[in-house]
Amino acid sequence: MSPSESRRASRGWWDADADAYQAEHGRFLGDADFVWCPEGLREADAHLLGDVTGKRVLEIGCGAASCSRWLRTQGAEAYASDLSAGMLRHATQGATRSGVAVPLVQADATALPFAAETFDIVCTAFGAVPFVADSARVMREAHRVLRPGGRWAFSITHPMRWVFLDDPGEGGLVAVHSYFDRRAYVEEDDHHVPTYVEQHRTLGDRIRELVAAGFVLDDLVEPEWPDGHTETWGQWSPLRGRIFPGTAIFVATKPRN
Ligand SMILES: C[S@@+](CC[C@H](N)C(=O)[O-])C[C@H]1O[C@@H](n2cnc3c(N)ncnc32)[C@H](O)[C@@H]1O
Repeated sequence: MSPSESRRASRGWWDADADAYQAEHGRFLGDADFVWCPEGLREADAHLLGDVTGKRVLEIGCGAASCSRWLRTQGAEAYASDLSAGMLRHATQGATRSGVAVPLVQADATALPFAAETFDIVCTAFGAVPFVADSARVMREAHRVLRPGGRWAFSITHPMRWVFLDDPGEGGLVAVHSYFDRRAYVEEDDHHVPTYVEQHRTLGDRIRELVAAGFVLDDLVEPEWPDGHTETWGQWSPLRGRIFPGTAIFVATKPRN
């Protein structure tokens, strides 16, 4: 799976799936809210980005950009970007509904159209990183566009979930795949053209990608499933969430020198 094949599949998938994704998850994500993961951890409670007031923030893989709109309401100068025009169309609709507008940029996270040292914070909730073949390049791009001292925070499916089937029920409690198998999960059409691609890296791979890009890792957050949270999101469910983590959130800093 080459980076360009992976990118083509992702763009096509998210363009086609944008309406269904928002119909299914839009209410949970809110119009101007920063939800890190299906466990429901909110930036308003977690403060993983620090004080965002007056900070210039880039959200990559923003989808409908509810996180960027929340950041705007907190006084940040937020910009939202995504590979998919279909997802960005929902970002426009979200701006109309909420009355909070953010500049939108259609861009691949592996080639950000911004000058070096433009942002104080780069972030994403499940955007881009799990879908790109060359995620080390996303780390380097985040590092490039950040100012020294800037923060990069991203959530992804917890790598240990790769071991299990995408099943929110009992079937998703049995280990069937190797954690060490980095081959992408690929769906194809009738002509064997990839239509959906998801990439797997181990926790160690992710940390090495960050360090190689020049970051210092500050935290690795594994949100616990909260009591009383009954909502299932795809393979995320109370049953599985009580036993093992579904999300990993990496928080890293670009050193000042
Ligand atoms: C699971 S959705 C998450 C969207 C949003 N952050 C949220 O929390 O709902 C993944 C997003 O990543 C975007 N994406 C996938 N590959 C990308 C890439 N190479 N560059 C930028 N965005 C990408 C998709 O278009 C999609 O909007």
